[in-house]
Amino acid sequence: MFAATKTSGTLWLLLICLTAQSTSSRHRRKLHLRAEPDSSIGDVIAPRNLSPFQVSIQNAHKKHKCSGAILSKDWIVTTAHCMKRANVSTYRIVTGTQTLGATDARIAVYKIEYVIPHPHFDKPKKSNDIALIRTHKSIEFNSLVKEIKCLGSPLPRDSLVMHTGWSWRKGVAEKEMRGVYHRVIPYALCLSYFESRVRNPIGPGHMCLNLPRDKDYCLRETGGLLVHKTKLAGLSSFGAPCASGEPFIATRISFYYDFIRTIMRGCVRCKQEFGFQARFFDL
Ligand SMILES: *[C@@H]1O[C@H](CO)[C@@H](O)[C@H](O)[C@H]1NC(C)=O
Repeated sequence: MFAATKTSGTLWLLLICLTAQSTSSRHRRKLHLRAEPDSSIGDVIAPRNLSPFQVSIQNAHKKHKCSGAILSKDWIVTTAHCMKRANVSTYRIVTGTQTLGATDARIAVYKIEYVIPHPHFDKPKKSNDIALIRTHKSIEFNSLVKEIKCLGSPLPRDSLVMHTGWSWRKGVAEKEMRGVYHRVIPYALCLSYFESRVRNPIGPGHMCLNLPRDKDYCLRETGGLLVHKTKLAGLSSFGAPCASGEPFIATRISFYYDFIRTIMRGCVRCKQEFGFQARFFDL
């Protein structure tokens, strides 16, 4: 399978204003963050090198499917549902670019050696949406390609996270990475919101985030990175497709810290020695 062959906006105040400063060069745009109650949230083209730990996971047609984060030279984390129906042997991982299709000596392409989805992915429904990807060879780091550390403890309510990814702005070329800020919504509020609307349960492995009320902002990508300060806090997972001011759900990285750590530490290069791959894929 995975083998190599709204509650209303008044419930939370949107405190962030994100604007793009126009300069002669798009690459010189800067994200400006201002605390301003009731201001709207807007996404902008990500400033250059905003997210050097982000990769584009692409299918056989070189089409961007989802994002992932580089955790080490050999490991990438993404959502499990990104890889669910993937023919992994035909997939590729592109590092070192925020503009899909761009060329630069520092951009590289890697094949997937194998994928380890969480053994309880989608049990219960939409839960444990996380997978680790082992690249076929070690990723080369440079000024545009870096690793990111995982956040080991849950973020308190109202924490600010930066969300970066592709394919979410209607009518705009999807080749540019975009960035936006969200705040973590209190768990109880998220629970009460989702309990009445979705069948799948919301659990501690989920992280609930606010979404701007902006009909052109549609989360069509999974695995978008949610970064708190310098650490990976989450991966975008599911929610209403286009922003109605409703919250969306991410995979909470801290909840899966041990899963990530044990796979990365315990199984580096053990596939061949211990038949690790077969055992895990048959779960
Ligand atoms: C995956 O892609 C490879 C290469 O195109 C192909 O040979 C193989 O049959 C595909 N596997 C599945 C399960 O579709």
